[in-house]
Amino acid sequence: MEYTNKDFPVLKNDRLLKAAFGKEVDKVPVWVMRQAGRYLPEFQEVRSKHDFFTVCRTPTLACEVTLQPLRRYGHLDASIIFSDILVIPQALGMTVEMHPGVGPVFPNPMTDPSEIDLLKEEGAVSRLAYVGDAITLTRHKIEGKVPLIGFTGAPFTLMGYMIEGGGSKTMSKTKEWLEKYPKDVHKLLSLLTRVIIDYLVMQVESGAQLLQVFESSADHLTREQFIEISAPYLKDIRSGVKKQLDDKKIDQVPMTVFAKGGGHSLDIQAQLGYETIGLDWTINPVEARKIIGDNVTLQGNLDPQDLYKSPEEIKRLTIEMVQKFGKHRYIANLGHGITPQTPLESMTAFTEAVHEAL
Ligand code: CP3
Repeated sequence: MEYTNKDFPVLKNDRLLKAAFGKEVDKVPVWVMRQAGRYLPEFQEVRSKHDFFTVCRTPTLACEVTLQPLRRYGHLDASIIFSDILVIPQALGMTVEMHPGVGPVFPNPMTDPSEIDLLKEEGAVSRLAYVGDAITLTRHKIEGKVPLIGFTGAPFTLMGYMIEGGGSKTMSKTKEWLEKYPKDVHKLLSLLTRVIIDYLVMQVESGAQLLQVFESSADHLTREQFIEISAPYLKDIRSGVKKQLDDKKIDQVPMTVFAKGGGHSLDIQAQLGYETIGLDWTINPVEARKIIGDNVTLQGNLDPQDLYKSPEEIKRLTIEMVQKFGKHRYIANLGHGITPQTPLESMTAFTEAVHEAL
């Protein structure tokens, strides 16, 4: 399904987009990574009836789950489409299962670089059309209340899952590939980059109003490795999306890069062309601003663990955080995804405090 922006209701709350583009805002915008997730009983209810990837692949279910946090928390200034970064390896022909209590599992991970040629690049983005359909449906159902964020995993993070076969504490197999097969690694990262660019453009054509790229495994990389195997591809993704949108005469959308554990290379991230840089909770907001400069929006970065504290303490910590970042070019968020046991009232305390802070 392809819609243009004129098919959608006018956006009633554009704080997020204003902040991303560096315009003045009345209040600091706030959203939360994994805001549609297991801490919500209504999400658990849907998951008790449907497999994780069935929810991703069924636009009505993905839309419902995307809207759930908005119904509960009136202070949220954005929604993020319910999906997963691992739908790309699936579209390339790999099997990915979500095992409750374990996380994603690839029964047949990549074990040898010769398997790169078995990946089905052709048609991958059309096999992801269900994500576009979920985005379009959600844009209609959301009735312009807040913008809808689209997303992808970054090439290195996706490659890591494809080689490790799931989450990994050490990433030792991936690191072995970096050592032994540098050329093949770049071949795989380039393939993923091409698919990601087309996938993100498809999301914008379907109605996504901001795009976030998750380099969630950057914490495994040294600065030197980040410069070699992450940054160039992140940069190509930003410029590739911009070029295709220009060529297709589609309005540009702001983009966010979130490299978890990427505190070692904030200066590099500032050069990648993204409007917003997401920060994990280990990074000092004032230091980050000094390194990154004033021309990029910052997003983050309360420790998700702080949401286990009392509402009063959450409010205090949140206000302190917002004051450090300041009102200009700032989007409030956690420093990583909200965790499953988080009390429901913590989200109220966090989102309210952001709007009350300045
Ligand atoms: O609300 C939202 O943020 C949108 C939905 C979203 C999910 N995954 C749903 C999900 C988003 C943006 C993601 C991104 C994602 N997926 C990342 C990058 C962000 C990050 O956390 O660093 C990564 C690394 C993945 C891969 C993935 N998916 C893992 C490692 C896991 C297991 C860990 C966990 O939290 O359970 C998932 C599962 C997953 N993705 C769940 C949800 C709601 C929970 C699974 C379930 O419902 O059973």
